[in-house]
Amino acid sequence: MEVLAYLTKACVKECLQLLIFNNPVPKNYRGYGVIVASLPGDVGIGERISNLLGAQHQEVIHKVFPDGESYLRFPHPIESDDYVLVQSTYPEQNRRLLELVMAAKTLSVRGARSVSAVIPYLAYARQDKEFLPGEVVSAEVVLELLGSSGISDLYVVDIHKPAVLKAFRRRSTNIMPLNSFKKYMSGLNLRNPLVVAPDEGARHRASLLSKALSTDYLVIKKFRDRYTGKILHSFPEGLDFGGVDVVVIDDIISTGGTVADIASKAKDLGAERVFALATHGIFVDGAVERLRNSGIDEVIVAKTVGRVVEGVTYLDVGDEVANVVGRRFL
Ligand code: R5P
Repeated sequence: MEVLAYLTKACVKECLQLLIFNNPVPKNYRGYGVIVASLPGDVGIGERISNLLGAQHQEVIHKVFPDGESYLRFPHPIESDDYVLVQSTYPEQNRRLLELVMAAKTLSVRGARSVSAVIPYLAYARQDKEFLPGEVVSAEVVLELLGSSGISDLYVVDIHKPAVLKAFRRRSTNIMPLNSFKKYMSGLNLRNPLVVAPDEGARHRASLLSKALSTDYLVIKKFRDRYTGKILHSFPEGLDFGGVDVVVIDDIISTGGTVADIASKAKDLGAERVFALATHGIFVDGAVERLRNSGIDEVIVAKTVGRVVEGVTYLDVGDEVANVVGRRFL
């Protein structure tokens, strides 16, 4: 009897969904479907994930009220299915983060079977430590907030420091878009390439990329004045970059100061060409000008944020991200 009631309810729901929205959620053999919902900060990755999974794709309806607050509405009634929310958090870091938290909480309290979040760029991740007494460790606060909003699986693209993900306290995956990087850089016919990390924090990126390009890497020492934010790079003595193509790799280009400094020093040391490769291109505070003046030959970033700057090469990492996220459901 109970089974019959359940089947009738499920059937009525399916029929209503079909009649009203003409958009049923494809179900797997266990009777659950995956719904990929793009929030306003998605950078085209939601569609890739839904195509890969044959899942329903929804664009969450959104507007900004006159007083600046965000309004969101899922275009279909919330189902007891697995939801994947996609939201990058730049520009408008605060708004995008809050939208994600509100959407996730809504899904989890209204009966979604699970809520995953895919964040191509996670804002506030750089402050991962209390460097000066009393400083707010924003990376931990933001990750704890995401964890308490009902998100059970988190996917971020190249977070500043992967270890900080433990603050999320649930399943998390850091996606390094290495295949896309390798593919593009391999097509540049680099001569005597050397991968350079601008600081200790970028060592793991340099190590991965240099392995992928079958070359060496070098980590530069960086000193930061914790009050002014000013940075100083110290290159090892006696370096000669004559005939070398340098690839500076970092997670973020924000003001461009870091990679510009490395690039101009590398050129002074005789580097043939200098490429700046980063995962997230924020480009603020005169970054484009700064990078141009540094002698960098090409600036390359992944398309992880909702802002495109002229003169920069953007790599599409949508399929690489979708493949990682898709593994959980396939
Ligand atoms: C800092 O440790 C980060 O990894 C980046 O190097 C930094 O955020 C880049 O910022 P900017 O472009 O302003 O130098």
